[in-house]
Amino acid sequence: MSIFGVALKKVVDDSYEIETGFELQNKLVSDLKNGLVGNIQKFAIVTDSTVKELYAENICNLLQEAGYQAEIFSFEAGEKSKTRQTKEKIEDAMLAKGYRRDCCIIAVGGGVVTDLAGFTAGTFGRGIPFINYATTLLAAADASVGGKTAVDTPLATNLIGLFNQPKKVYLDIATWRSLPERELSSGMAETIKHACMADREFFDFLYENMDSIMQIDKAACEHIAEVNCKIKYHVVEKDERESGLREILNLGHTVGRAIETVSDYRLLHGEALAIGMTAQVRLATKLGYMTEAEAGEVVALYRKAKLPVEIPSYIEREELVKKLYTDKKVKNGKLRFVVQKGIGNIVEFEEGVFATPIEESVAREIIMEL
Ligand code: GLY
Repeated sequence: MSIFGVALKKVVDDSYEIETGFELQNKLVSDLKNGLVGNIQKFAIVTDSTVKELYAENICNLLQEAGYQAEIFSFEAGEKSKTRQTKEKIEDAMLAKGYRRDCCIIAVGGGVVTDLAGFTAGTFGRGIPFINYATTLLAAADASVGGKTAVDTPLATNLIGLFNQPKKVYLDIATWRSLPERELSSGMAETIKHACMADREFFDFLYENMDSIMQIDKAACEHIAEVNCKIKYHVVEKDERESGLREILNLGHTVGRAIETVSDYRLLHGEALAIGMTAQVRLATKLGYMTEAEAGEVVALYRKAKLPVEIPSYIEREELVKKLYTDKKVKNGKLRFVVQKGIGNIVEFEEGVFATPIEESVAREIIMEL
């Protein structure tokens, strides 16, 4: 018998910039000219059927005019497309067009696009670089930043994926103007979640400025884009791979993700999260971490953002209780919840532990009340 030691210690620098502004398409091209992804000349623009005409075609033209090879790989818009099957179709289309390891993916779109494109980049040719050009508030607040990439499966959302950091993220606030109100509200759900877990002042800002934000007021939107990044990166920089602290970004998602799947995606991610956050504040009050008044403030802010705070009647509640067990935080068969402390804080149950086991009967009681 012999043992051969394989020494593969790694020092990785996955640092990158997130640039926020209005109409950043030309900035993206000039960054590429200045070596953002080395001397790669070939770009696969991954997008969906809605964003293709709105923004991706323009980016593709700009890249071609700048002398790059660029092609669009588009799929049907919507969460139902965030599957292994869509990933396979994009991969096969890229392979058929001669894309190999010497290319870069540019994801142009919302969270479904950036999640799917980032995952595809992580496995295509065993890994190629990718850039996110986020065109929704939801992607700007959460999905396009932080390096979580994934697809959904019939069982639940985001079960198959990779931690994979982009080379750069562009948050183009001008694109929010083309969002239907329902999508804009959906994006607010993650923004409100950030305020609830980390910043009381930001929470008050959102309450006072909700109307201006929904009208895409420049200063208000730049402020929320910046604070979202600050809050999220304060966590991601400390715990990229979610071994502890990053679980706090899951606030509201235990019920939220489950209800999104049980609704068969009739609920948008943010709508499902708003209901999940309502469940979570009820739990926090039951456990004594929030007052009824604070819980009421959270619910009022979600309502102000025109988001649902009750479980729709078409949701089968026992099915929802069962679906909670597909959550990635489940440990040893036990449901685990992240819990808000007042407004702007999270409960740390022991040092470095931010999720606590909750009996199914307690979760069921909350779900039945909502
Ligand atoms: N969306 C939660 C996270 O990025 O960890």
